[in-house]
Amino acid sequence: MIGLGTVGGGVAKLLRDEADLYAQRTGRRIELRRVLVRNAAKARASGLVEPDKVTDDPGAVVAGDDIDMVIEVAGGIDPVRAFVARALENGKHVVTANKSLLAAHGPALFATARQHNVSIAFEASCGGGIPCVTALTCGLMANRMDGLYGILNGTCNYILTEMTAGGKTYEQALKEAQDAGFAEADPTLDVSGADAAQKLAILASLAFGVKIEGDDVHAVGVDGLDLKDIAFGDELGFDVKLLAIAERWPGEKWVNVGVQPCFIKKDELLAQVKGPFNALSVHGHAVGHTLYYGQGAGQMPTASAVVSDLLGVVSGWAPAAFSNLNLTPDLTEPAPLLDRADTESAYYLRMETLDEPGVMAKVTSILGGKGISLSTVLQHESKAGEVVSLVVTTHMTRLGDVEEAAKEIAALGPIQGEPVIIRVIEMPA
Ligand code: HSE
Repeated sequence: MIGLGTVGGGVAKLLRDEADLYAQRTGRRIELRRVLVRNAAKARASGLVEPDKVTDDPGAVVAGDDIDMVIEVAGGIDPVRAFVARALENGKHVVTANKSLLAAHGPALFATARQHNVSIAFEASCGGGIPCVTALTCGLMANRMDGLYGILNGTCNYILTEMTAGGKTYEQALKEAQDAGFAEADPTLDVSGADAAQKLAILASLAFGVKIEGDDVHAVGVDGLDLKDIAFGDELGFDVKLLAIAERWPGEKWVNVGVQPCFIKKDELLAQVKGPFNALSVHGHAVGHTLYYGQGAGQMPTASAVVSDLLGVVSGWAPAAFSNLNLTPDLTEPAPLLDRADTESAYYLRMETLDEPGVMAKVTSILGGKGISLSTVLQHESKAGEVVSLVVTTHMTRLGDVEEAAKEIAALGPIQGEPVIIRVIEMPA
């Protein structure tokens, strides 16, 4: 195993405590032989594994003759990328929880695995303990996929839940997520939407059978979200969720992938996903709507996915699926990505304006001029001359038109700053 942090500690615990169960299930005894860490003295003192198993020599793990499989739970890209490549070149199956590695270098590593007749299993890279990779690659294989709508970052969902229902500030909620072990070592990866974007790249590649890299996913995080918009959303019957969305309309080749705070109706199933929980809503042409829900972060849920992958390798089905199915992005073509401006959705716009005669008429005239049809208009009572929030929601419209209209609105004299634009999701049936 490479790494003995939060997830590595959980894997070591499962392999120690459930050794008999796993032997009974697979007919093989699994032994954790060696653990590669940066600081061997600290790892030996942790009591998580027997001290003689700890090493700071990468070769002892990735090239050890007595090692069949390497579990990578260190995270980050360098030096782990080289360790994983060497393990594959040395004929070792790899189980990894590393979404950033796969989102950036998956195709090259999958190809290396194929050349050396070994496999990479990566359930833990997306959605923690939820078996969403297995669902997409095995359970739903009969389907053409129309859409994925995911809550894929536990830290952001925790922050949004606590800010919405718990009355906490953004900073308090983030600190609590970090203390609970959900957040990345660098929490900007969580709150910027980058972590969810990496997971979406992996899941959407599998779902649509195309190559999508982390950088292909346009990501907006929760760090810029204003409490005012959460409150207006609430008034309009919406909850805000950081949604990772991959869509392809039936019969179309274009794929749209993005991560952003979205409003969804409070009675949608995804709106019920609270705290650090994750969920992935998958729409397939034959199966219809399916939903996968569970703990998307934290020590034991992630260890559950890692060890399940490990058992999948031991039992032979994971390597068989890897080598016999054309699923991974080393075997697929780059995704035809739809220009963001051409994507369509309903939107929420909030404008801050001096309360003067004629502002509403000018705003609606700009929106109407772009062919944008309004669904709701909301303004609270105010005093003439004060700054007031003007909120509108639209029917389905092109994002490019909304963004152009927002620019024109921002240029109006009484309007203060830029309008806030938030996507309103109407989930497919
Ligand atoms: N930091 C991630 C999250 C967990 O908060 O969901 C690991 O993917």
